[in-house]
This record gives sequence, structure tokens and C-alpha cells, in this order.
Amino acid sequence: MPYVTSPAWVDPPLDLASNYGERPLNLAAWPKPKQKLVPDPVIEAQIAKQVAGMSLAEKVAQIIQADIAAISPEEAKALKIGAILNGGNSAPHGRFDASAQEWLDLVDSFFEGDDPNAIPILFGTDAVHGHSNVAGATIFPHNINLGAARDVGLAYAMGVATAKEIAVTGMDWTFSPTVAVAKDLRWGRTYEAFSCDPDLVCRLGAAMILGLQGEPGTSGFLGVDKVGCAAKHFLGDGATRDGRDQGETNCSESELISHHAAPYLAAIDAGATAIMASFSSWGGQGMHGRHDMLTKLLKQHWGFDGLVAGDWNGHGQLPGATPGFAPQALVAGLDMYMAPDSWRALLASTVELVTSDPSLVSRLDDAVLRMLRFKARLGLQKKGRPAARPLAGQFSLLSRSEHLELARRAVRQSAVLLKHEDQILPLAGNQHILVCGRGADALDLACGGWTLSWQGGGDFSGLFPGSQTLLEGVQAKVKSSGGRVSFNPAGQWSDKPGVALVVLGEEPYAEFRGDCDTLAYRPGDPSDYALIDRLAASGIPVVTVLYSGRPLWMNPALNRSKAFIAAFLPGTQAGALADLLIAAPSELVPDFQGRLPFPWPAHSDHFDLCAPSPSRAPLFPLGFGLCRTDQTAWQRLHEHSTARKHDPLTLFDRGVPQGEWTAELTDFSGSTTLKKTGLLGGAASPGRQVAIRPADYGQQENAWAIQWGGAGSLSFAGPPLNLSREVNADYALYLTAIAKNLKGLEVSLLPPDAPGLSEATCSIALSSVAQHEQSFVIPLKRFAELGIEMNHVHRLVVLGQEMSDLMLVKAYFAPMVAGRA
Ligand code: BGC
Ligand code: BGC
Repeated sequence: MPYVTSPAWVDPPLDLASNYGERPLNLAAWPKPKQKLVPDPVIEAQIAKQVAGMSLAEKVAQIIQADIAAISPEEAKALKIGAILNGGNSAPHGRFDASAQEWLDLVDSFFEGDDPNAIPILFGTDAVHGHSNVAGATIFPHNINLGAARDVGLAYAMGVATAKEIAVTGMDWTFSPTVAVAKDLRWGRTYEAFSCDPDLVCRLGAAMILGLQGEPGTSGFLGVDKVGCAAKHFLGDGATRDGRDQGETNCSESELISHHAAPYLAAIDAGATAIMASFSSWGGQGMHGRHDMLTKLLKQHWGFDGLVAGDWNGHGQLPGATPGFAPQALVAGLDMYMAPDSWRALLASTVELVTSDPSLVSRLDDAVLRMLRFKARLGLQKKGRPAARPLAGQFSLLSRSEHLELARRAVRQSAVLLKHEDQILPLAGNQHILVCGRGADALDLACGGWTLSWQGGGDFSGLFPGSQTLLEGVQAKVKSSGGRVSFNPAGQWSDKPGVALVVLGEEPYAEFRGDCDTLAYRPGDPSDYALIDRLAASGIPVVTVLYSGRPLWMNPALNRSKAFIAAFLPGTQAGALADLLIAAPSELVPDFQGRLPFPWPAHSDHFDLCAPSPSRAPLFPLGFGLCRTDQTAWQRLHEHSTARKHDPLTLFDRGVPQGEWTAELTDFSGSTTLKKTGLLGGAASPGRQVAIRPADYGQQENAWAIQWGGAGSLSFAGPPLNLSREVNADYALYLTAIAKNLKGLEVSLLPPDAPGLSEATCSIALSSVAQHEQSFVIPLKRFAELGIEMNHVHRLVVLGQEMSDLMLVKAYFAPMVAGRA
């Protein structure tokens, strides 16, 4: 489990004392874009004709985007579905290591055929740091690194390279760039944002869009080597309260204008063809349902004539809506429902709705027109069959040397030197260097989330030709300099090195799974600090490199290191950091140029650093970054971090209920509450129908052996959890458990007031559940389908009917894992 904690508890009541977002927008105060795409008369005539010839069902299908995991090419073609995507966890044959050829074949299989009157299907993907779902592609650093490099030319060039690599796989559209102005470092999407500085976000976002789509008005615009973009997530996603993903944007209208809207104006100026609505809300109303934002502001006041796309079932989160029925979003101005798995119900319900309410036809027609305009601008008709396009199948373009070199440049330009003592850098390449730390040889930590799978992480070996970890980069440099590298992740050495390079890192995460409630590095796990401490105490100078999706409170490491580098999420060319760190003979060592895209916290609870009036001073301000020659006198920093709150999504681990979770054994004659510690010989329900005793699973007493003599339950009760985001994002309940006898075992999730045993009707039989590496994996959707209210889950009940037993090692909620061959 990553050491990020995802606050999922039920939201406190909204504090609307400020009335943010409740009054009508004062549109006169919102500046307009300077320029925008001009409608092309040929296109306008063509799409008007197309719309006129479509049936109601065809129109509704046109504005729906389904996920490859939930629709077949045959279904998509038969129903004339408008768009397809691969979500972060969807890949050809369900394998995240699928080859580029398999991706191209998959995209091509959705091609509607050569009928000149057929409307082309649109294929979108999250190519958010390079073509990041595809093995073999160039994985660039994340946007946070671009914010540190502050180089519009670099952002542009990365857009150009990414568009080419996308075109190789026949796809048309990337859900990128994120132009959020991230304000609270607890937000799990901080690294997808360039910066908290609106001006920087404007410049980098526009440059990226120009790179992806080309220059509007030129012949290369949206040509064969270009793709559509989606500036996202409109509006205010980076300013949610407490940095909670998909939360309530907590700012005034004037701050929305000056901070959060500006990047969209820059995006429209740059020719953005699509904008994606945000899951977040303002004034308690989800953006997918805000007519004032989507229609009055974006379409009417700004004159945006492109596509307003929805986010992953975001329409289903509006009051009264479900993923399969959501007129509210259409009425508000959404032009494309992203309905990955809900498309079928949505199609049927929307057709029925518009049939019974003809007043919706004109809104539907507008949405269809915008979808068709987007497709026409992308030239889909002209581009034709995906596999036959000029760049399709040119697999040598993926990770071609120019792209890898560009990624290396981005890595070098974005590394921020935060501390430098005794002129320790660059390290002489002809000495003995000990390389250690969890990140040193870990490509997945260098890449972060949205890499091959939604959450990222895993063994990438062999999947990215030409990739280089920092260890490999150091080895290459030192080899040419006549020195020696020893590598030991735990920092053990047999003969004393001249210097130690320690590479630390956060575990990868994406979206709300990365939300946290402390900025402390790996809270509750001091092992990495102990490693640095031991090296420094032995008189070995330490140079520390950190991979992270956000600035983190790391004072203990800063104090003990001679040099400290924030490398953020460098991607598959992490080895380029060695160019900055090691001096090889007759090579010029480039200097550090990276500048902080966010302020760096002085305290682990220092979250509001980017707010207009922060309450405390940062340790390093926005824009800070040393050059090698800068002389800094280091003042020892305090080392107290604030206490860690427990991750409420882990119920049971290491032999004990976690955090606020408690356990209970229940049968016909009552309940026994289990002590958190000191189970000693075990415990039983009052009628002795169910009993547990501590058991060993690889380690001493880290599991419970549960035995049922008759009907009884083991249940975990905890803080009420709002699991709606988790249901939407395909989370599952994982029970790591060894079962000898499964007969009659069922699990259920209950709201606070439900009595334990009588809820057996709403339970899932464990025997019907998929098993994956000793875990029963029960998709949360299955509970939701039973009618269980997933926004108020309070109890997990494991119910045994007969002679059954189970060894329970761990119980937790986590995303479903994408596959590998
Ligand atoms: C994210 C978007 C992403 C989409 C498709 C959503 O959950 O918020 O940023 O583009 O999924 O994967
Ligand atoms: C993500 C998708 C991802 C899905 C997991 C969404 O929130 O944005 O891209 O595949 O959850 O099923």
C-alpha cells in the first residue's frame, strides 16, 4: 500500500457562509479570449447537413464516449457511438504491457468503414506525460516538472513529440493538458498541474496545446502528425477545499477569474478544440451541471465553439442523476458524456427522454454539431482508416532518439537544487559512489501515476527501450570516468564509498488516491531517514534526490544531506539527472536551472502556501532554486512532523483493526467487541458460533484465523465512508485471505443504522468472487448494484453460515489492478 492517505470520510456539511458560487455569475467581470478558432464555412455547411440527416438515436449515440473495456467494436459501429476512450486501466486485451501494434489494431478495429457518409468515430486517451498508456513510448516528466523548467519551448516540443507518438497508434485525441492552478499541496493531482502560478500555467498550457495541435491558421494545424487536446478540468479543480480531489472549490468569483479561468483563456487563444468539465463543484453544484459555467460563460460569453467534454461518469454525480441517466449535464451544456461503462443505459434513457421532451432537441443538436465540428477540425474524415494514416505503425517514432533526448533535456532543466554545501557537486566521476534508496533503480517511482496504468507503479522492465534509471545514468557516467559504482538499495557497503547518492521517492498515485492529509514524507515509516542518518553518521557525504508529485516536508533528509535535489517525476529518462550530478572527463557539467513551481513547506501541515495570503512562510518560496555556485549557509531545520491520520480505507492489517476501525464478533446471542491489542488466546462471539485466534502469515501474529461453528459474523465498524468516488473509479474491496472452506461465506457493506445479521440479503458470496494473489477482489460496483448506499458505508460484515474458516490477513479498499501478460 502506498504511504499516501486518501481521506474518504463523509464530507462535513458545506460551509457556504461566503456564498461562493451561489449568486449569479457577474459575467461583465470575466475577461474574454483575445482570439479563437474561426468557424470554417465548409465545415459548418457539412456538419449542418450531417445533423439534419441523423435519427434521434444516432444523435444521442454521437455524444457518448464509451470505454474499450465495456464496448466491442461491433457494438460501437452498430449503434454509431460517437467516441471511444481507453481509461487509465483499459488496454488491449486488458494488458497494460500490450504492444504498440496491439494498440493500433485495437484503434483500427473501431474504424467505421470506408462509407464516405459514415461519421468517423473518435478515439481519446490520457497521453498526459508522453503517450503514457503505451509501453515503448517516450515517458516525459509530468507537468509539475515543466513548471519547474519554465520553458515554453520545451513544453511546445513535448506536445509535438507526444502528438506524433499518439498518431503512431492511430488515436485522435488526448485528454491533456491539465491547466489546473493547484493551490493545496494535499491534492493528489498536484503533479498534473504545472504550477500554482496562474501566469506560468497559462504559458505552459498554451505552448503544450500549440505543440499537440499545431498553429491555428497554418496548413499543419491538426495535420497528420497532430491530435486534438482537452484543456481540463473546467473550472476550479485545483482549488478544492483541503485539496480534496473532486471536492468543492473554495474561492470567490474574483479569484476564479484571476487564477483559475486565465489558463482557459490562454488555451482558447492557442486554439484549444476541446475543454473537459471538472468533477469538482462550486457553491455545492457540480461543474457538469452548471449551466452558468458551461453555457453562459464558456460558450456564450467566451464564444467557445469547440467540444465541452465530460469527465469519467461525472454527469452521474449530479443530484438526481446516475451514470446511466443524466439530462442535467446535457441541459447545462455538456456536449459529450464520458460514459465508460454506463453508455448503454445512458443511450437508452437519453433517447427516451428526448422523445418525451422535444424541447431538448435543440440542445442535443448543438451538442452533436459540436462533436461533428471537433471531428471535422481534427480531419478525421480525411485521415481515414487509423491503420492507413501516414504515421500509423511507424513504431520507430516511439522513443526515437530525438524524443528521448528531449525527455532528458526536460529532466535536466526541471531538477531543482534546494541545498548545496561544501561545493559537493558535481561529484567526481573517478571515485567510489554508493547509490542507494528505493528510487535509485525504480523506473515506476520516477514515472509516477498515469504510466501504463491509472495509478502507475509496477515492474516496467523491458517495456521502455532506451529508458534509464538514475542508477543506470550514474553507472554510465562513472564508467567513462574511471570510477566505481556500488548499488545497494538499503545503503549497505563493504568498503567505504567517497559519497552516497540516495534516491528517495513517493509511491505512485493518481487522482484522489493521492490526496493526503500530511506533507510528511512516508508518514509512519522512518526507514529512509534512518538510511541517510546512518550514512551521514559514518562520515559519508550524502547527496539526496527526491521523486515526488508535490513538494514534501523532508527536513530530516535536508538537514543530513550535503546536497538535496527535488526531481519531481522525471519519467523514463531519470538517468539524465546524472548529467547534472557527475563530472566526467572533458564534459561540461550543465548547471541546475529548475525553479520551484510550488512553494516548499516548512512544516508538514503547511498546506495553504499557495493561498493568496498564506498563514506561514514557506521553507523555500515559489521560484526558488540554487545554481551550483550559490553559497548557502545552512541553518539546521526543526524535525517535528505533525501526527499522521490513519488511512480510513484500510480496515485490517498486521493483525489489528486499523485507525478508527473496530472489530466485533456477532451471533444469535449478541456481540463481542474485540480489543485492538492483546487478543491473547483468541475471542469468540457470545454464543460461540464464531471464534478468532491470532495466526501467522509469514510473520508472527499478523493475521486472524476465523472459524465458524454456525451462523455468525465478523464485522469491522469505522467512520462512515463516502465511497462514491471509489465506486466510480472501479475500486474494489480486497480481502487478503486464505480460505480452506468457503461454504456459506458472504460479505456485506452496511450503512451505520443497519443491524448486522439481518442484512444478509445485501451480501455477496465469497465463492462467487474473483481471486487474485490470495486476495478476494470484490468490485465496489457489485455492492452498489445490490442497492447498498455507497456514500455512507460504515461497516464491513463477513458472515459465515456453516462450518467455514478463513485466515484474514488484510482488508482494504483499493483500485482494481490493471493486468500484464
Ligand atoms: C480524470 C480525467 C481523465 C479521465 C479519463 C478521469 O477520472 O479525471 O482527467 O482524463 O478520467 O481517464
Ligand atoms: C480514471 C480512469 C481509470 C478509472 C479506473 C477513473 O477515475 O480516470 O482513467 O481507468 O478511474 O477504473
